[in-house]
Amino acid sequence: MSNQLALILPALQAELELVKRPIPKPGPGQLLVKIHSAGLNPLDWTMAGFGIFIKKFPQVLGSDYAGEVIEVGEGVSGWAKGDRLMHQYISGSFQQYAALPAEFSFKIPATLSYDVAGTMPTVLSTGFVGLFANSPIGLGLNPTFARNQPHEGKSALVLGGGSSVGRFVIQQLKFLGFSTIVAYASGRHTDYLKSLGATDIIDRTQSTFEQVSSRFAGQFGVIFDAVSRDGSLDASAACLRSGGVGIVFVLPIPAEFQERLKQEGKNFVLVSGHIYDLTPEHEAFGRLQVEHVPKLLEEGLIKGLSVEVLPGGLRGVAGGLERLRKGEVSGIKLVAHPQETTEA
Ligand SMILES: NC(=O)c1ccc[n+]([C@@H]2O[C@H](COP(=O)([O-])OP(=O)(O)OC[C@H]3O[C@@H](n4cnc5c(N)ncnc54)[C@H](OP(=O)(O)O)[C@@H]3O)[C@@H](O)[C@H]2O)c1
Repeated sequence: MSNQLALILPALQAELELVKRPIPKPGPGQLLVKIHSAGLNPLDWTMAGFGIFIKKFPQVLGSDYAGEVIEVGEGVSGWAKGDRLMHQYISGSFQQYAALPAEFSFKIPATLSYDVAGTMPTVLSTGFVGLFANSPIGLGLNPTFARNQPHEGKSALVLGGGSSVGRFVIQQLKFLGFSTIVAYASGRHTDYLKSLGATDIIDRTQSTFEQVSSRFAGQFGVIFDAVSRDGSLDASAACLRSGGVGIVFVLPIPAEFQERLKQEGKNFVLVSGHIYDLTPEHEAFGRLQVEHVPKLLEEGLIKGLSVEVLPGGLRGVAGGLERLRKGEVSGIKLVAHPQETTEA
C-alpha cells in the first residue's frame, strides 16, 4: 500500500477535494502515523477562507491528530510501532497518514479514546500557553507545570466559558488553584461547567457584555477571553483589576484597542496554541507540554470533551466546518475518522 486519501484545499476559498496522495516515508526524527481521529477547529475554515498560515496550495487542513505509530524514523527514541499518539500542528490531519516530528508528539494515556485525544490538542494547548507559559506568549502563571496550586485565593473570569477552549481553561484555572472561576456561557452548560471547576456561571442569554462590565468592573486578576470579538474586548478590559495579571485574547484584536490597553497599563497576550514551527518560545513550552500533559490527562486532572463523529470519514469534514462557521456547534467537538473514507 503506497497511496492514501487526503482532503485538500486546492486554492483559497475553493471547495475541499478528496484526492489520492502517496503515503510519506518518515524522515529522521519522525514517526509515520495512521490517523484515526482528526478534530475540527474554527481555525480550519478560517484558513480555507482567508489563507492565514497557508504557505502554498494545495493544502491539507486539520490541526488535531490522534493515531497509531506504524513506522519509526531514524534517530527516534521512546516511540515504538503501535504506540498511540496525539499531535498538534497548523495543518495536515485531514488525511489518512502523516509523518510527524516525534519530539512534539504526545503519548495518549490508556484512559483516552482516539476521538477524545484527537479533539483536544489545539484547544488544550491554547489554554496552557495563554495561562501557564511565560511572557511574551502567555501570562506566566505556571511555566513549569508545578503541582502546588500557586494561585489559591485568586479569581479569574472566562468569557466564552462554554467554548472548547473555555472548557479546558476552566480546568486549567482549577489546576492552578484559583478559588473563584467565573464563566460567561450559555446557562444550559451550568452543571457541566461547574463539574469542571467553574464556581459561578453568568448566563450569556440573560446578560450582555455591557452588563458583565458594569457588574464585575475591576474584579478579576486574570481574564481569559475565549470570544475576543465584539463586546468581549471592552468587557475584558473593564473587568481586569488594576494591577491584575492580565488578559488572554484568542483572536487578533484591533491595534487601537491594544494601544488603549497599553495606555491603561493593562497586560495582555494574543495567544497562539500552536506548539511548533512558530516561535522558539512556543517550541520550548511545547516540549514541556509533551512532558507534562499526558500525566495530567492520565490522572484525570484535565478531562477531554464530548465528541460527535462525522459520517463518511473525510467526506464529512466540509459539512462539519460549515456548521462551525455558522456557529451551529455548541458543547461538542466534531471529529472525522479518516480511515473510514471510501474512494467512490
Ligand atoms: N489563538 C489560538 O491559537 C486559538 C486556538 C483555538 C481557538 N481559537 C479561537 O478561539 C475561539 C473559540 O474556539 P473554540 O474551538 O473553543 O470554539 P467552539 O468550541 O466552536 O466554541 C463555540 C462556543 O463559543 C461560545 N460563544 C460564542 N460566542 C460567544 C459569546 N459572544 N459569548 C460567550 N460565548 C460565546 C458558545 O458557547 P455557548 O454554548 O456557551 O453559547 C459557542 O457554542 C474561536 O474564535 C477560535 O478561532 C484560537
